[in-house]
Amino acid sequence: AKSGLLHGKKVIITAGSTREALDPVRYITNRSSGKMGFALAQAAAEQGAHVTLITTVTKPAIYGVNQILVSSTQEMFDAAIAAFETADIFIGAAAVSDFKPEKTDHHKIKKTGDSGLTLKLVQNPDILKTIGQHKTHSQIVVGFAAETQNVEAYGADKLVTKNADMLIANDVSRSDIGFSSDDNSVTILTRDKQPEFLDRAPKITIARHIISRIVTL
Ligand code: C5P
Repeated sequence: AKSGLLHGKKVIITAGSTREALDPVRYITNRSSGKMGFALAQAAAEQGAHVTLITTVTKPAIYGVNQILVSSTQEMFDAAIAAFETADIFIGAAAVSDFKPEKTDHHKIKKTGDSGLTLKLVQNPDILKTIGQHKTHSQIVVGFAAETQNVEAYGADKLVTKNADMLIANDVSRSDIGFSSDDNSVTILTRDKQPEFLDRAPKITIARHIISRIVTL
């Protein structure tokens, strides 16, 4: 789309749930499907952007979207930091695991009899926050906040702590929207405008609206 609002812009998007390996066959993950990230990739590509989608889930190719498949948070972090250097816009739509196992066993963990198993988890790097801290004046950073309560207040807080230009807050306690649903309902928070609530709609509709708001930044 030569006339697209993001013609020639480089957009990096993270999507899906990260996987933190315990051993070669087991991992810790979460309920995110990656649908919102894919919808955003499509909406950005429709506006002529060159999109790099750093994702943990594979879906059919989208014209204008280069998919990079990753698994763990560390892999997603490395790919995102590298790609952001030359990017205009970063959108963190992935559901990133806050913790990972302290160590990944090289062999399948064995049963222990009756003594159980204690896992030690350590903090993962925060991709969005790191990118927010390193962005230049010409780069735009957008994050998501999946909350189960006080959605708008926590979202507004994250806008600041992640040094983001826009934060998309959604209520994941609602079973009719969010995570693996095809629909979403979000509140768009920015530094200088009133919060904008978007009522339940297909994720591609929400994504197109978010992209049009990013363009105004
Ligand atoms: O802090 P919280 O996980 O609620 O923030 C959500 C936002 O931060 C999302 O945009 C998510 O993709 C991003 N995030 C990240 N790296 C993490 C944790 C969250 O990029 N380790």
